[in-house]
Amino acid sequence: MYIAIISASIRVNNNTQRVAALINQYVQSNTGYKTKLLDLNTYQFPLFTERLSHQPHPQPNVIEFANAIKNSQGVIIVVPEYNGGYPAALKNVVDLLYSEWYHKPVAISTVSDGSFGGSQVITSLQFVLWKMKAITVPAMFPNPNVKNELNEQGQALPDSPVYKRLSAFIAELIWCIEAVNKMK
Ligand SMILES: Cc1cc2nc3c(=O)[nH]c(=O)nc-3n(C[C@H](O)[C@H](O)[C@H](O)COP(=O)(O)O)c2cc1C
Repeated sequence: MYIAIISASIRVNNNTQRVAALINQYVQSNTGYKTKLLDLNTYQFPLFTERLSHQPHPQPNVIEFANAIKNSQGVIIVVPEYNGGYPAALKNVVDLLYSEWYHKPVAISTVSDGSFGGSQVITSLQFVLWKMKAITVPAMFPNPNVKNELNEQGQALPDSPVYKRLSAFIAELIWCIEAVNKMK
């Protein structure tokens, strides 16, 4: 029983991984769920020319990524905002899959180095996930000024308000996971 966390920046020394690490540690320490951290910067996938279901000889790490989504109870996508949208590397793996997203609770956390926390990216990503029949979680976890708020290990100062916001965000995801499980 685990939650998959996609860190969706492939930039060297990206800041999204700090938020992914924060969420990863929080879920492990504060919920009954384990986690699988799926860092797109580590995978370095090529640009896919076909969906996984149409690929004759998929690479083992592509199958491993797909199975990590498929077998998860829910997914958190941690996404940086690039020019008001999400990175091509994320669309690459979203479109790679199809049945894996079906009725999957997916929560979106946004990241930016500016003061708005990447909040403009959420609507376009939600729409794509809705088209794929994922259950998009009605909660936000925007992370502004991320380099100042979190260190490279994803730790904030102990009294940081980030933990209260994160707690509410994860609670909504778990509500959706439990609701979906009741329908299975
Ligand atoms: C191509 C590109 C476009 C960006 N566009 C925006 C933007 O529209 N709004 C914003 O707040 N930050 C923008 N940023 C800055 C990112 O918020 C910043 O790089 C942040 O650290 C998150 O991205 P990262 O995880 O790749 O580091 C952009 C960065 C890049 C590389």
